[in-house]
Amino acid sequence: MQAEQKALELLQRRTSGHALEQAFYTDPDVFALDLDKIFYREWLFAIPACEIPKTGNYVTHKIGAYRIVIVRGADGVIRAFHNSCRHRGSILCKSQKGSSPKLVCPYHQWTYELDGSLLWARDMGSEFDPRAHGLKTVHCREIAGLVYVCLAENAPPFEPFAELIEPYLAPHDLGNAKVAFESSIIENGNWKLVWENNRECYHCGGNHPSLCRSYSDEPDVTGISGDSVPDHLVAHFKRLEDVNLASKFHLDESGQYRVARMPLKGGAVSYTMSGKAAVNRPLGRIPFADAGSLLKFHYPTTWNHFLPDHSLVFRVTPVSPTETEVTTKWLVHKDAVEGRDYDLKTLTEVWLATNDEDRRVVEDNQQGILSPAYTPGPYSQLQESGVIQFVDWYCDTLRTRVAPLMLAAE
Ligand code: FES
Ligand SMILES: [Fe+2]
Repeated sequence: MQAEQKALELLQRRTSGHALEQAFYTDPDVFALDLDKIFYREWLFAIPACEIPKTGNYVTHKIGAYRIVIVRGADGVIRAFHNSCRHRGSILCKSQKGSSPKLVCPYHQWTYELDGSLLWARDMGSEFDPRAHGLKTVHCREIAGLVYVCLAENAPPFEPFAELIEPYLAPHDLGNAKVAFESSIIENGNWKLVWENNRECYHCGGNHPSLCRSYSDEPDVTGISGDSVPDHLVAHFKRLEDVNLASKFHLDESGQYRVARMPLKGGAVSYTMSGKAAVNRPLGRIPFADAGSLLKFHYPTTWNHFLPDHSLVFRVTPVSPTETEVTTKWLVHKDAVEGRDYDLKTLTEVWLATNDEDRRVVEDNQQGILSPAYTPGPYSQLQESGVIQFVDWYCDTLRTRVAPLMLAAE
């Protein structure tokens, strides 16, 4: 209860509209609570479904202490399992990704079907019941080509989120995508600093020369406009909604996720140095090249950009109180050919640079917070509405999961 007590005290004395106290970004107890109360309970974006297109394709992932494997079965269904053998617990799939007709434990070769059932275990005797030793499942849902998992025993409802985003995502046709490129970097900063940085563009002008060629640093694009969406955005949404392209701003009342199709700037149609499309063979059926970027975030693990020519998915994975993995995948049409339909450098250079610039500012932020002289400063109400919204979501979520435990213990 000590960690919970500490967190509750920190939450109670928080000054709203301000950055968090140092402990939120450094303390191992708070980090353990972040995992336990948030990452082990929420739906987490894991992979684009196109990454495992065929039967037996799998991807492994580590979230806090949990290791999971996500695999496509013979019936085409994507499932997730704990990556731990039901014999003596060995890790089952060791590589980050692979393909296998069955899942075979490297230790004593217990062999599982792709649906997790135990198929074969040598010399376990006549009393042994293979049906009682299938792989432990992890909740897994695919929506419009994105795979989400939930580690909780009882997962929160997925449907409200799925119903909201399906019409926004369907025209991007992620079922016909392939991963053209992926990058994983470690940012030496707390996962919340990664998010805070993502949720504002106050820093863009001073740090992102390539991104700023196409991405507007207008606060209403990245942040939360509330009831006062500016006229030019309202007109942009209307133009797209009029041709049945789901586009308008929607923030869930829980604050956990948002979608909005935002215009790019200066006539840009994609995140390239020239502002021109990066891929000749588009992924999706977006009726206007200048439809902009469908921005979607879903706390605590993903923000995405879906463009008329390609899509980008980002995944945030906390590694330690001061380390966070950020994985980016560039999705193009599965029939697009590198060198003919797209050039990898043109496709990736803006966001590779942007990610590295973000890594630097997050690491600088963490280093400064580590100083005993650090005190939380005020967010800009105008520029950092998105950060305020994220931090409020985080604090409210943690509080509602810690406070009842404290009351019960009293
Ligand atoms: S631990 Fe997997 S077969 Fe023994
Ligand atoms: Fe940035």
